[in-house]
Amino acid sequence: MVSHRPDPCVLVVLGATGDLARKKLFPALARLAARGLLPAGFTVAAVARRPWTQESFRQEVVRAVQEAGGTEGNDIRWQHLLTRITYLQTDIRDPQGYARLRSLLAELEERGRTGGNSAFYLALAPEFFGPVVRNLRQHGLASGNGPGWRRVVIEKPFGWDLESARQLNRELVEVFPERDIYRIDHYLGKEMIQNIMVIRFANAFFEPVWNSRWIDHVQISSLETGGIENRGGYYERAGALRDMLQNHMLQLVSMIAMEPPTSLATADIREEKVKVLRSLQLLTEENIRKNAVRGQYGEGFFPEGKVPGYRQEKAVAPHSATETFVALKLHIDNFRWAGVPFYLRTGKRLARRYTEIAVQFKALPQVLYFKEYGELSPNLLVIRIQPQEGVFLRLNAKRPGTDNFIVPIKLDFCQNCEIGVNSPEAYERLLLDVMRGDPTLFTGWEEVEYAWRFVDPLAAAWARAVPSFPNYPAGTWGPEDAGWLMRRDGRQWAEAGYGPEPPAASPAAEA
Ligand code: BG6
Repeated sequence: MVSHRPDPCVLVVLGATGDLARKKLFPALARLAARGLLPAGFTVAAVARRPWTQESFRQEVVRAVQEAGGTEGNDIRWQHLLTRITYLQTDIRDPQGYARLRSLLAELEERGRTGGNSAFYLALAPEFFGPVVRNLRQHGLASGNGPGWRRVVIEKPFGWDLESARQLNRELVEVFPERDIYRIDHYLGKEMIQNIMVIRFANAFFEPVWNSRWIDHVQISSLETGGIENRGGYYERAGALRDMLQNHMLQLVSMIAMEPPTSLATADIREEKVKVLRSLQLLTEENIRKNAVRGQYGEGFFPEGKVPGYRQEKAVAPHSATETFVALKLHIDNFRWAGVPFYLRTGKRLARRYTEIAVQFKALPQVLYFKEYGELSPNLLVIRIQPQEGVFLRLNAKRPGTDNFIVPIKLDFCQNCEIGVNSPEAYERLLLDVMRGDPTLFTGWEEVEYAWRFVDPLAAAWARAVPSFPNYPAGTWGPEDAGWLMRRDGRQWAEAGYGPEPPAASPAAEA
């Protein structure tokens, strides 16, 4: 769908003093404002429990935006947006508060001439999603009440398993129809993830070889150096499987593996992604034992110093069995991918931070270029998602000189290496899409459903067996078994990623 300008609207942020609002939402809004991308009349109703005054809340927002790196644009526009943020102190569990929210909305709609358009951003713990939407309905704030559109934006986790996700979805669709529900998976807002479809379907040379005949395997790594910060309570329950694999990682699988959609309409793209998720080979007890690895970090060292183990983090049980690392080999049972393994791995407190998708092609028969010409490396396409954004292709070529030696060469496109080319943050794009009414980069219900269907047996099997944790020191590449998962198949993880070392932060980027 071609992007159009966002509609005038009020954005209601519920949970406006929480981490997500501070770290992501307000900084993204400030940057959008500074670039002049917000619609005329746009206003924000910020709802939370803390006793801030209008002034002190706005100062908090300014601090949050500065901490997140500022706006890189016209600060006057951003200052103007600041005057259009209204703080409403209320407890979201208190029904009275919704009556006040309703009058505030009426006032803001009048002031901004927003035509009744409102988006409710639930930047809240998941247990509040159901009760909040029920309250919105009871106070006439849901879809179908009055002129304009009403949309709800839901952060992950969308449920803890298939059953709880279904229950949550039932509660949501009673109040907002599917077309008005925007389930965030912020990975879909990342620049290079949006690029996956373009790379695949707008270039002649990938699609013909994008299948089991030519591809040896796909590996997807999303590695973090950070720990769990202050999210012990949430993470204890989620673990890496629910926090990263059920959503971000399986979304990447679906985009790499999907068939070309009939059109770029949301429904057509979702249909193809769902087909992939439906075709995931379900994990049996036996292949969980063979093909799934979990890990938890113990204390360890980074160049910046020593860090505690997971079990020593705040709000974590001293004998916690929660995994902070997952590696998994999966198969997609369809015509295109039969027999091609997809290796996924994600974890916290690892040696380097990067997210990459590497597609390794099959080796060619060695009938012309034998060993004496050098080792032929398999062709490789790497889509680098972060911190570098780019595309990397490994080919074989003749080494310059008087012999016929073959060496691997790299075609390396780095989108964000040049100073000044800064991709928008995922949340900038996603917030705009909510206001534009384009849910393509959000997760449809069926995607969530099939992803849980795949993950549930693994979560259940792991819950039954006590792991021996910790099994990797912070600052390393994860548990030894994850390496074995690959080596056993005669393959290996691209340990340090395929990208160049991260460029040193430029003074311009810091300014
Ligand atoms: C979030 C997870 O969805 O993604 C976090 O809850 C994780 O645990 C984060 O750190 C990673 O996002 P990014 O954009 O830093 O790769």
